[in-house]
Amino acid sequence: MNAIASIFTRDERERCHSVFPAGSNGEFDFPPELTVVVERGEGPYLCDTDGNRFVDFSMGWGSVLVGHANERVVKAATAQAALGTNFACVNRRSLELAERILEISPACEQVRYCASGTEATHYCGRIARAATGREKILKFEGAYHGANDLGVTSLFPDQLRPFPSSERSCHGTTQHAAEQILVAPFNDLETTAAILRAHADELAAVIVEPFHRCLSPKEGFLQGLRRLCDQHGIVLIFDEVVTGFRFAFGGAQQYYAVTPDMVAYGKALGGGFPIGMFGGKRELMQVVEEHRLNKEPYVWTASTLGGNPVTCAAAWAALDHLERPGTYEHLHELGAYLREGLKVAMQDLNVHGQVIGDGPLAQFIFSPEPVTDYRSTRAGDRNKARRILLALIRRGVFLNPMGTKLYLSTEHTEEHCDMILDAFRAALQHDRGNEPSGGRTHVFDHG
Ligand SMILES: Cc1ncc(COP(=O)(O)O)c(C=O)c1O
Repeated sequence: MNAIASIFTRDERERCHSVFPAGSNGEFDFPPELTVVVERGEGPYLCDTDGNRFVDFSMGWGSVLVGHANERVVKAATAQAALGTNFACVNRRSLELAERILEISPACEQVRYCASGTEATHYCGRIARAATGREKILKFEGAYHGANDLGVTSLFPDQLRPFPSSERSCHGTTQHAAEQILVAPFNDLETTAAILRAHADELAAVIVEPFHRCLSPKEGFLQGLRRLCDQHGIVLIFDEVVTGFRFAFGGAQQYYAVTPDMVAYGKALGGGFPIGMFGGKRELMQVVEEHRLNKEPYVWTASTLGGNPVTCAAAWAALDHLERPGTYEHLHELGAYLREGLKVAMQDLNVHGQVIGDGPLAQFIFSPEPVTDYRSTRAGDRNKARRILLALIRRGVFLNPMGTKLYLSTEHTEEHCDMILDAFRAALQHDRGNEPSGGRTHVFDHG
């Protein structure tokens, strides 16, 4: 693959930095000289405004699991757009899609739409609080649940306080909000159980990314959470914004065979269109019914664009695409191929590192020790990771330099994986002896 040489025109860089703080919308933390302005996407490729083509391993932060400009999705969205783009009212498309989700998602007896994963997890938390009459929510350290209080509290903790104390990773949130969030180490059922026992009467919910950032749950961890939540009357929320429709058509619930009480969806469901959805047991979801206002526990949920028919038509088409025979075999085989290739490259070049992930997701961490949670992940060499990620971008691989989670799509093949693997080897070789450039070391995954 050709190295990307002069893609970054001065003019665009300046325009980006003039209109956007740090030159971006917050998704990517590119250094100024690596400003990329995307023109279009095609399958697993992105083209920038200078005509350079990248092989994409971000895929719209995982929202475009079916590939850029997927023919079915484009056709469905275009046809629907001609019939109206938004009604802020239940419509044929939103009704049909909701019925289909109820069939796919074991946890969902009822659902509502919103427009992002951030809203979906936020509503799950509120509903759990209203339904239980308790205020606190337990999350796992380092988990991202969107740009809400739940998502940003203890997202990048630095002080590493004793559990279950949280840390504010984002100013503008309140101390009170942080105190309402307890934190446990992912994959440590014993510590989690002790926290749940001690705080059961004030905990409304446990929210978990069943596949935490890029870490698989240990055998029995999710089952253990299910058991503990049942024991203490705590609502178990699966944040399936990443896992939804990615590991299996039935998401993490099917893949790990655990059914939560509530579930949040986003990303891949929309086929690249803005979507969020939250659902759960009928008895929980009923707290959003408007007749309860001022009488019974009631949670306001509303979204101007949630359930809009273009997104729902696109989502239906994306699900059709994913439901084709062989999709998940392909995604899993390809992910295994990529992870193995990354591992072998590190071994060949004598680089200490770990490759984690499952299904169509992979991440490399420059740590000699195995990683199972936030603290062990954080022990990796983040400066090196940052250098390698930026070097990959310079070599024509598009990814999120704030995080190393690599997203594959149904449109990637082994050939595309070979492109990143060649670039990875070259970057590792080049990095030898080229130690730190200093600057920011922001290598946390929030995509
Ligand atoms: C697990 C998880 N939950 C929630 C979100 C938030 O979704 P959105 O960016 O659509 O608000 C993200 C986004 O990356 C995520 O990874």
